[in-house]
This record gives sequence, C-alpha cells and structure tokens, in this order.
Amino acid sequence: MTKVAIFASGSGSNFDSIMSKIEQGLLPQIEVTALYTDQVNAYCIERARKYNLDVHINELKNFDSKADYERKIIEWLTAEKVEWIILAGYMKLIGENILNAYQRRILNIHPSLLPKYKGKDAIGQALASGDTQTGTTVHYVDSGMDTGEIIEQRTCDIYPDDSKALLEARIKAIEHEFYPEVISKIIQ
Ligand code: GAR
Repeated sequence: MTKVAIFASGSGSNFDSIMSKIEQGLLPQIEVTALYTDQVNAYCIERARKYNLDVHINELKNFDSKADYERKIIEWLTAEKVEWIILAGYMKLIGENILNAYQRRILNIHPSLLPKYKGKDAIGQALASGDTQTGTTVHYVDSGMDTGEIIEQRTCDIYPDDSKALLEARIKAIEHEFYPEVISKIIQ
C-alpha cells in the first residue's frame, strides 16, 4: 500500500470524500497516515476524528520561517514513511524543501479550469468573468500558485442566476467524485 498524507486548511469536504472512498474499499492501494493542517480551528480536524485518523496541527506563526515550519512537516512525513502528498484545500504554497523531497508526488485540486482563475476565490473570479462554464482541475504541484502540470479537468456550467454558494456547492459535488478517481489512477 502507498502511504499518503492529506493536507487541508478548511472544511475538509474533499478530505472527507477521499477517506469515505477508502472506507468503501474504492482506493485499496492507499493508506492515509494522517491529516496535516495549518489551522488549529479547521473543521477538517473534526472530520478526521470520524475516521480515527491522526492529525498534525502545525501553525506557521509558531516558527521563525516557512522553512522551519516545513522542516517540522518533513519530520512527520519521514517518520510516517509518506510517499505522496494530497492537497485538499491546503491554502499555502509548498516550499522548496517539501517540493524537492516529493517531486511529482504532490497533487492538488483547484476549483477552476486552470490556467484560468488561479489563486484565491477562483469561483468568484469565474462568476464575475461572465463565462458560462468553469470547472475543477487536478494538477501536480510546483513552486507556483496553481501552476503545476495539469492532469485532468472536469467542467461545470455557470447559470445566469448563480450565486457563489450555489456554484461552489456544484463544483464541490463534482470534486468529491473526481479527485478520488484521479488519485486512484495516478497513485498506484
Ligand atoms: C476545494 O474546492 C478546492 O478545490 C479548493 O479549496 C476547496 C476546499 O474545500 N482548493 C483551492 O482553492 C486550492 N487553490 P474543502 O475544504 O471543503 O475540501
């Protein structure tokens, strides 16, 4: 089995969907060692309890530098023999130490059809653009913000009367099926 770590900063619905697929036996090749989060109050921590999963909470503000913050993460990753990292709403750029240790072994999901609407509030950006379609992208992670090599995308219609909340809910519903499918193909 391939050991993976999931990184999340927020609600963790994508994290939850991956864990639930594992519980259903749909990702038999993967073992999640722990949830890694940079937010002490993030709801993803509650979700991890449901799966009896270890949680590593690591706040950047407790370190002198991003490099020191990531050194702590690397200590845990090494101790757990983690082979792949799955970002699921982790809202920090990955620094060079982790990138060097996990080249082409870090996946991210981003709620737009990259290269459109990188960075924060991708859904708001798509809504404001007047586009009639947006979507979600799974990509390898590099040092840029949502710039790594694209693996696969799914589209989602934008309706004239859409609100951000409605569009976000539709995109997340797609992500919850799509991300585990791509993970299953890429991590063997
Ligand atoms: C997801 O929609 C994901 O695509 C996005 O954050 C959300 C996390 O939701 N990721 C990014 O914007 C990365 N740049 P969740 O916490 O409910 O899984």
